[in-house]
Amino acid sequence: MKYLSLIFFMSLLPQYAGKSLRRDGSHPRTFEDIKNEIAGYSDTAKAIIDLAVHGKAQNRSYERLAVFADTVGPRLSGSKNLDAAIQYMFSALQKDGLENVHLEPVKVPHWERGEEFAVMLEPRNHSIAILGLGSSVATPPEGITAEVMVVASFDELHRRAQEAKGKIVVYNQPFVTYGETVRYRSQGAVEAAKVGAVASLIRSIASFSIDSPHTGWQNYQSGVPRIPTACISVEDAEMMSRMALRGTKIVVYLKMGARTYPDSPSFNTVAEIVGNKYPEQIVLVSGHLDSWDVGQGAMDDGGGAFISWEALSLIKDLGLRPKRTLRMVLWTGEEQGGVGAEQYYQLHKENISNFDIVMESDEGTFKPSGLAFTGNAKARDIIKEIMALLLPINVTDVFDNADGTDINYWMRDGVPGASLRDDLSKYFWFHHSQGDTMTVQDPNQMNLCAAVWTVVSYVIADMEEMLPRGPRVRKSNKPEHSSFCGDLGLWLMETAELAIRMYCPGQILHFVNVGGDGEKSSDLQKASALLCFWKHSQKLS
Ligand SMILES: *[C@@H]1O[C@H](CO)[C@@H](O)[C@H](O)[C@H]1NC(C)=O
Ligand SMILES: *[C@@H]1O[C@H](CO)[C@@H](O)[C@H](O)[C@H]1NC(C)=O
Ligand SMILES: *[C@@H]1O[C@H](CO)[C@@H](O)[C@H](O)[C@H]1NC(C)=O
Ligand SMILES: *[C@@H]1O[C@H](CO)[C@@H](O)[C@H](O)[C@H]1NC(C)=O
Ligand SMILES: [Zn+2]
Repeated sequence: MKYLSLIFFMSLLPQYAGKSLRRDGSHPRTFEDIKNEIAGYSDTAKAIIDLAVHGKAQNRSYERLAVFADTVGPRLSGSKNLDAAIQYMFSALQKDGLENVHLEPVKVPHWERGEEFAVMLEPRNHSIAILGLGSSVATPPEGITAEVMVVASFDELHRRAQEAKGKIVVYNQPFVTYGETVRYRSQGAVEAAKVGAVASLIRSIASFSIDSPHTGWQNYQSGVPRIPTACISVEDAEMMSRMALRGTKIVVYLKMGARTYPDSPSFNTVAEIVGNKYPEQIVLVSGHLDSWDVGQGAMDDGGGAFISWEALSLIKDLGLRPKRTLRMVLWTGEEQGGVGAEQYYQLHKENISNFDIVMESDEGTFKPSGLAFTGNAKARDIIKEIMALLLPINVTDVFDNADGTDINYWMRDGVPGASLRDDLSKYFWFHHSQGDTMTVQDPNQMNLCAAVWTVVSYVIADMEEMLPRGPRVRKSNKPEHSSFCGDLGLWLMETAELAIRMYCPGQILHFVNVGGDGEKSSDLQKASALLCFWKHSQKLS
């Protein structure tokens, strides 16, 4: 079983789909030809930039988002607000004159936090700001009153495991990066329950705080008791840690009314500009429409959704029609683990060879710094040439590893992927908190993001040939939990892919992943992933 959880075998790549031969069967084009083709888009790129940044469409994505976010508010999976948001977008996209505007049904999780609060009773009365974590169970109706045990890490929890029974475990882990620290949110309750805790309170995964809790999804594990779990502010976590270090006894009363309902009907929202030469081939731009139930979901991911809409609007307004179909998808159920995107992938993967690139913006629409790209070296060189078209706004950098929960399914199957890179310095100040409102969005920055998103998607959709795709890691359809590589998730896959590319070109790796989508890796984690991959390749060969 263990060995089955990381199955990999080599096979010749079945879908070397990016055509390298010309359609008329003549010689493959040289890179010089492609460079010249891209340089030919310079005037079009300037026109897009002018319209988005200086012209009639200036501030449009911001203004549209403001009306939407102020009208609909936050959009939790399964909520009436999310239904309203989808209906709103459906009619707005139709009114905008886009093509094939339609909704694709999806079932999404439906969890509600209900009434919730926490009070410190000892050593003094103090109201603790909390936000229950997505999928948490409720406390009993009378609440839970228990002594607190503060730990700074899972290691400390395990070392002091015998003290945890009957306590509320408070995690005061320092913020390193979101990718590294978020496991305290996703696994904190499970680890606490394993050592007998009755609830867990987790320091928010935030790089800055003004006493604001930051929510997010968390996972229970079968066979481990489900205990209520919520996040608390950095300030309260640090205070309780200081108190505990002084040997002060802390008692907290916690009450949570969270409920999980049966999955709800929802929709991915789709609009297109249909291609005029290869309409069956798709360039996909996206963001997610759902959000947490706090703030306005303006940053996460209103911005990404609305610059994706803006890309189609700008192209339409300029009277452009690319050779391929430019398809915008606004995902539903992202915050619950990319639920809408997974169903979309299952439904559409039969056409995977027609997906040219999948793009998602889900890491803010602040001042853009470039594009993150996942794909082979040849495709990357092409992307660099395309990004050079953005010199007028000085956003030409190409980074490694596109990020986006909703596009991972495709990228793992070899489809090139891209995500917007922007100034993330304040992103985790607001992420998943009441602070995620229109106030953090900036029209000038959104104009620039929209320009990048539009130039990239339009040029790729209009080039004579699809982007080449090379050997990529392939993920099996059914994720399983691996025990021997730990929770490396995407890190493992990216690194294994790199190893394959270096040592076994032309081959493909199949294996079953362990979750942890969208997390970023440190060099140490990459190194351990590589080591793990290497060890198991020795065992299996
Ligand atoms: C766009 O927003 C900026 C910053 O708020 C403002 O200075 C500018 O006048 C706005 N432009 C339009 C056309 O509203
Ligand atoms: C703390 O609050 C409880 C009930 O909320 C109250 O009974 C108690 O007197 C308070 N203690 C202090 C010291 O204020
Ligand atoms: C696959 O592509 C073909 C050709 O464009 C289209 O007719 C069909 O509906 C697509 N299938 C799915 C599931 O999207
Ligand atoms: C262009 O961007 C780079 C960072 O990507 C920065 O160092 C440089 O100062 C910028 N140049 C201008 C003219 O804004
Ligand atoms: Zn998001």
